[in-house]
Amino acid sequence: VNISGLKMNFAGKDFVRITHYSKKEIEYILDVAEEFEDTYRKKTQMKLAEGKILATLFFQPSTRTQFSFQTSMHRLGGSVLGFAGTEYTSVMKGENLEDTIRMFDSYTNIIVIRHPEAGSAEKAAEVAKVPVINGGDGSNRHPTQALLDLYSIRKFKGKIKDIKFAFWGGIKYSRVAHSLALGLAMFGAKIYQVYPGNQSLPDNIIQELKEKYNVSAPPRLQPDEALKQVDIVYMGGAIQDLTIGGGKAMVSEEERKKTLEEYNKYFVLSLERFKKLGVKDDLLVMHPLPRHVETLKPDLDNTKHCGYFEEAGYGIPVRMALLALLLNVKN
Ligand code: CP
Repeated sequence: VNISGLKMNFAGKDFVRITHYSKKEIEYILDVAEEFEDTYRKKTQMKLAEGKILATLFFQPSTRTQFSFQTSMHRLGGSVLGFAGTEYTSVMKGENLEDTIRMFDSYTNIIVIRHPEAGSAEKAAEVAKVPVINGGDGSNRHPTQALLDLYSIRKFKGKIKDIKFAFWGGIKYSRVAHSLALGLAMFGAKIYQVYPGNQSLPDNIIQELKEKYNVSAPPRLQPDEALKQVDIVYMGGAIQDLTIGGGKAMVSEEERKKTLEEYNKYFVLSLERFKKLGVKDDLLVMHPLPRHVETLKPDLDNTKHCGYFEEAGYGIPVRMALLALLLNVKN
């Protein structure tokens, strides 16, 4: 790949963290995704990845990441195998992650892994010779969600730089928010946080924002203040993130109860609330999904504020682009 005289080589690389790629490289992936929109919308099939096999290894539940990767590989003309849950694999007989990965490394051309342990995708990438894509590791990172979110913002707002973007809800343990905050900083968006209790971005992400992109800790806004000021509210702190680390509770029961109470009191998004506050017509709500209908009310679904379903759909062209580039089947 060679744009503007800059040589870029995606072939055979892993995609474990968004920060392993430069802004130019991420931009290029998003540009390639534009080229795949036609195939996504018309639901047709290409022949680019004919003869290639994708392994989707999901040690944790998933609807969007798992099936959009599978759809993307089918649309590229490749094949898919893998598991959703380890019940009928030899993980049940005690096989470790490394040996499981070694097997799929020999069977397939590229691997997507979702796993409850932070650092598991890195561990898999060290063992595998084929590219490994992180589909979410514990409460750590979810870089392909960040990719599709950056793509969505560019589609919805025409740019990412200077967009006022508020993370809405607790994002301390949100792997989606951790990756996206770094992606937004890379592109120069103005990041804010609106969170209950002490559920702000964790120190390691704040430190990375500073070191890699010279961005200070995103300021905290009050909920109503954010809804009036920003361009995008992102419900990145799903309630399940409080328990996402290997299915174990990340916080004490008392803290969890208190946070949920505060969440339910101040963090519900609804058309009724938007009307009462008089928010901007183009205030956009994004959400990686799955949502909790108690906190993101269905009355927003058919309004101009709703970005979350289109956002999820963009997972297809974006993941097609990523697969095609790492497999080196796209010129
Ligand atoms: N956004 C996301 O990761 O959704 P799934 O958990 O359904 O894959």
